[in-house]
Amino acid sequence: MASRSDVNAVAPANNISFLDFFPCPCYNLNTARIGFSAARRVVIEVLVRRNTMVKKISAQPFQGTAEQAARLEAVLAEHRGDPAQLMAVMQKAQGIYGYLPFEVQVMIADGMDVPLQRVYGLSTFYGQFALSPAGKYAVSVCMGTACYVKGAQALLDALHELLGIDAGECTADGLFSMEASRCVGACGLAPVMTVNEDVYGNLTPDMLDGIIAKYRDRG
Ligand code: FES
Repeated sequence: MASRSDVNAVAPANNISFLDFFPCPCYNLNTARIGFSAARRVVIEVLVRRNTMVKKISAQPFQGTAEQAARLEAVLAEHRGDPAQLMAVMQKAQGIYGYLPFEVQVMIADGMDVPLQRVYGLSTFYGQFALSPAGKYAVSVCMGTACYVKGAQALLDALHELLGIDAGECTADGLFSMEASRCVGACGLAPVMTVNEDVYGNLTPDMLDGIIAKYRDRG
């Protein structure tokens, strides 16, 4: 049976998408404004995003219930023998569990009789799939062009210090998850971070302590 390390070994080949090369609706505007050559900017952004936006299989203990397993089994029974339905099954599985942990990916691969690497490849390629549970407060730092140029990486680094997790992970208490996102359409406020539906703009790293503390106090 494949292990987590087997699956993660295929990550570099699958963990980059079309959107990494056409990252932001305002890409051309931003590039012209900051005066870099477009080609050079694309290469830099792809390399940065590849490091910061890589999806990782969650290291949190799997806590699926028997009821969830029964619901997934019913979905698998409905589509078994039809690999064309793999994406649909993965979407339903995520609807059941909230994300696609390693154990669920194994169940899908076995149930659909497809290689586990195929399931993992799709889960990392498409932004709709999450490999880590969302925290009660989902913190998202925009890594679009405008935000990146205005210091988004420093925000991610500061959040790593504050929360003890990397992008794509969730704190052990389930309170915070962190991710690096593509442009959220608020480039005029760059750099931008969102916490659930709340939007914070014109951020500097020293502002994050107070923002995170506010949510921590709410519990
Ligand atoms: S690049 Fe557009 S909001 Fe960050």
